[in-house]
Amino acid sequence: MAKVVITGISGTLGQALGRLYLQRGFEVVGVTRQSGLQGDYFSRLQINPQVSFEDAKLLIDEKPDILFLNAGQIETKTGPNGEPLPDLLAQMTTVNYQFPAFAALAAAELSADRPIEVVAIGSIADGAPSAFGPVYHAGKIAVHYFWSGVSPIIYHATNGNVRLRLYRPGAISGPLAWAPVNRLNEKGYKIRAKRVNSAPSAEKVAGHIFRWLERGKKWVGTYDEPFTFRLLKWIHATWPDFYTRLQFIGWRKASKFYKKPV
Ligand SMILES: NC(=O)c1ccc[n+]([C@@H]2O[C@H](COP(=O)([O-])OP(=O)(O)OC[C@H]3O[C@@H](n4cnc5c(N)ncnc54)[C@H](OP(=O)(O)O)[C@@H]3O)[C@@H](O)[C@H]2O)c1
Repeated sequence: MAKVVITGISGTLGQALGRLYLQRGFEVVGVTRQSGLQGDYFSRLQINPQVSFEDAKLLIDEKPDILFLNAGQIETKTGPNGEPLPDLLAQMTTVNYQFPAFAALAAAELSADRPIEVVAIGSIADGAPSAFGPVYHAGKIAVHYFWSGVSPIIYHATNGNVRLRLYRPGAISGPLAWAPVNRLNEKGYKIRAKRVNSAPSAEKVAGHIFRWLERGKKWVGTYDEPFTFRLLKWIHATWPDFYTRLQFIGWRKASKFYKKPV
């Protein structure tokens, strides 16, 4: 029986992926930090803090055909002026970037002699950093950079057995889609609400991921990316100083923390 390991199994997308792979006849090992987790979307659980390289090796020890690095975290709190908090920054950097990177290296070390798809779940926000979700975006862009740079190295080092692939969802209907609201004023909140309220369900996104992975042709897959995201990425890559100035304008217009310098 084919086996899939899914981190962040208890979350919105994790549950949908778990159910889908169970329906398709896979054994689903759900990875969580919660010891008492119950549900109908996994065959069994692995309790794992997902911090160290040793933790990453435990995922590969399961000998999965597919490993989804799906766990992710947003900024649930900010400092009094909207600034990122150091502890949260460390935790988010670990789960959003460092741990997936460890898992890729563990796969290269332990799965070199058999095929495995190691799929990081990124975000369409990865190319356009924003003042409204800076730590989240930094982690997602870091994992995308790592995947794009390291995939060819590991693929050839393992005789084509270990394939690092990355999927970029847009907003998914659920709590994480509300990522940037901590810093938004009423006007900004309304704009975000429009986007979140029209977001696809996790089931729909999971189905898209499944088909993308089955086709096996693309290293990076993407759910529908609005034109504005493509435009922002282009501006960021081409005129980085101008892009940062745009963030200042965005902060003035849409942040509840904006204060005019005296
Ligand atoms: N939802 C969106 O709009 C959206 C958009 C673009 C990309 N994504 C990406 O899609 C993935 C899944 O998103 P989602 O909406 O399903 O998120 P979610 O509902 O918040 O679930 C994420 C899961 O990750 C685990 N997790 C959170 N913080 C962690 C930490 N510090 N260490 C280890 N595990 C941690 C939690 O599982 P346990 O507590 O059980 O360990 C949680 O259930 C994430 O990578 C996210 O960035 C989501």
